[in-house]
Amino acid sequence: MQQHANTELLVADHVTKVFAIRQGFSSKSFHAVDAASFTLDAATPEIFTIAGESGSGKTTLARMILGMENPTSGQLRYKDRSIAGLTRGEKRSWFFKEVQPVFQDPFAAFSPLKRIDHYLYETVYNYNITNKAGADKYINETLAEVGLSLAEIKGRYPNELSGGQAQRVAIARALLTRPSLIVADEPVSMLDASLRMSIVNMFRRLKEDQQVSILYITHDLATAYYCADRIAVMLRGWIVEMGPVEQVLGTPLHPYTQNLKEAIPQADPDKVWEQKIDLATLETDEYMRTGCKYAGRCPYVMDVCRQKVPGNYQAEGRMVKCFLYDEATVGAEKVAKNLAGEIPLTPITA
Ligand SMILES: Nc1ncnc2c1ncn2[C@@H]1O[C@H](COP(=O)(O)OP(=O)(O)OP(=O)(O)O)[C@@H](O)[C@H]1O
Ligand code: SF4
Ligand SMILES: [Mg+2]
Repeated sequence: MQQHANTELLVADHVTKVFAIRQGFSSKSFHAVDAASFTLDAATPEIFTIAGESGSGKTTLARMILGMENPTSGQLRYKDRSIAGLTRGEKRSWFFKEVQPVFQDPFAAFSPLKRIDHYLYETVYNYNITNKAGADKYINETLAEVGLSLAEIKGRYPNELSGGQAQRVAIARALLTRPSLIVADEPVSMLDASLRMSIVNMFRRLKEDQQVSILYITHDLATAYYCADRIAVMLRGWIVEMGPVEQVLGTPLHPYTQNLKEAIPQADPDKVWEQKIDLATLETDEYMRTGCKYAGRCPYVMDVCRQKVPGNYQAEGRMVKCFLYDEATVGAEKVAKNLAGEIPLTPITA
């Protein structure tokens, strides 16, 4: 085990976040993130996507990884240190340099009253990255990594930049500390389709050239398929399917992932998550559900699904949290049929 510990960049070990919600005069608790486990390897930088519909726990997980909230149980380790156990000083002097956030709205990160280059110089000086004389050169080099130059943005206010340019500046700012991990929560969802591709292309380049790992949270399966190495699909706090993106999105095994893939209108891949279902009621119902959280929507639901929580089963190079792939529940023959893609034709009863 010890040899492995050195190459682990980020380990999520049964990470759980419980929130209380008020219902009239009483309050109920629910698991916004429920025993999420995965590992990013330091030796092989990757783009790891977390996808899932609204309210599935993606941002809550990101906030815990960024040290903004602590898990209720389970642990997040960055380079073998518990993130929740870091002191404020350790976070400032080490962790916040190593792990950088990029958020959905680039303009929210910048005051409209300050010139945008101010933020770049501030980061350079705060982290003592280089002296004043070297700052221009360093900032210019970092901006070049995101396809901009200091001359293009110097002296300009945020409202004088396009959304795509502002997001590039936000990413450049994140890169200034030479992070090993960028946590990007819906970084392209406010940009139009052509800009989305250019930003995710940039992520790929940064991974290759700068050896930065990127945790890419998105609603947009098209960009995930295009740029990610691995994907974790979240549903109501659970990771329901996780593995290489070509496998998971190419031949999805979990009924929820299958449904997501079918929902991508061929002509317009950007519209994938836009079909509206009544999430308000569905959401609390599903979070509170005994057994599988997808049972209320699943076309293959079995009695066992309403009673027990499915385990995490290994199948076809990925993890899938569904009884359809559990030999002890449905038998080896049915698992083999389900793996062969016969599910849509043969909903089973058990
Ligand atoms: N501080 C909080 N207190 C109580 N409930 C919360 C809190 N933060 C988030 N939640 C709830 O936890 C669930 C997961 O929210 P989260 O923001 O992590 O989802 P998400 O997957 O990021 O959704 P979206 O795609 O809309 O950004 C939601 O039901 C949300 O309302
Ligand atoms: S465990 Fe049962 S309800 Fe859940 S996704 Fe699988 S078949 Fe459907
Ligand atoms: Mg979110």
